[in-house]
Amino acid sequence: MTTLAQWLKSETDDLALQSVIASMAAASAELSGVLRVAPIAGQTGLAGHTNVQGEAQKALDVISNDIVLKHLRENAAVATLISEELDDAVQLGTGGAYIVATDPLDGSSNLDVNVTVGTIFSVLKSAGGLLQKGRAQAAAGYVAYGPATSLVVRIAGAVSVFTLDAEGQWVQVVVAAKVPETSGEFAINTARERFWDAATTGYVQESVAGETGPAGKRYNMRWVGSMVADIHRILMRGGIFLYPLDSETVSKGGRLRLLYEANPMSWLIEGAGGLATTGRLGILDIEPSGIHQRVPVILGSAEEVRRAEAWYAKT
Ligand code: AHG
Ligand code: MN
Ligand code: MN
Repeated sequence: MTTLAQWLKSETDDLALQSVIASMAAASAELSGVLRVAPIAGQTGLAGHTNVQGEAQKALDVISNDIVLKHLRENAAVATLISEELDDAVQLGTGGAYIVATDPLDGSSNLDVNVTVGTIFSVLKSAGGLLQKGRAQAAAGYVAYGPATSLVVRIAGAVSVFTLDAEGQWVQVVVAAKVPETSGEFAINTARERFWDAATTGYVQESVAGETGPAGKRYNMRWVGSMVADIHRILMRGGIFLYPLDSETVSKGGRLRLLYEANPMSWLIEGAGGLATTGRLGILDIEPSGIHQRVPVILGSAEEVRRAEAWYAKT
């Protein structure tokens, strides 16, 4: 049995980086306990304000952000926190070697119906500044609060998966996750079809045409509506996730946020052998222009992502 602490030591000699991941894991373990009993504690529904994205914050969005902030404040290795729920980057101290960018609670529309939600985080070196390409990440991870609480994390090497046990210990369950190269499952919000570009329409029509269509293969569709849950399924059994640029999101640059949703997920998926693209450019090669910047996201099994890219190349 390998614990997270043992794995961290084997992955890096950088004690500060080890501690940053340990802090995010501790925050997530605390949050897992909060989520489990939130309906009893009355921590459901809206918080009554909107965040910088213009989204109505749920009570648990605010609680999650506070828990992450508390754990990172206690860690001298973290200089700066960027959060979906905070308008500006927060300076936590001076001299910390790392920046953490986080979506403290992903999929919060699923909270009140008891469907999997998550926490996503990206770790960057302070020296590189706030706006670094995804490829520069020192570490990235997410936690899925599902039937089991799973932590998926990568520090340059393989993507490792841990499960939170009843004693609050993270136990390794997958040493090196691999996204299957091929898959017959796609994930997209098809209610947005009328806004799609020609490439997205082409890709999806080809998929639903099944074995007698041009793809020559039958596809199934899954959409949880929590990016963490959709990506975790893809990491474990393959598939493709698309939140493309469409006519409704084009003015914002997309739906999902680059620094704390697209970049960490792309770095994890690519670390497990998958691919991540906007359709025209690798997500990890995007030069960020703002901390809450949004981007189109297409990621997952390499063969499927290449098929989507081929549609962009011809449209
Ligand atoms: P968040 O709850 O952090 O705002 O993120 C929600 C995101 C992501 O988790 C999910 O993939 C997507 O929004 C769902 O969008 P739709 O509501 O358009 O399906
Ligand atoms: Mn999110
Ligand atoms: Mn969120």
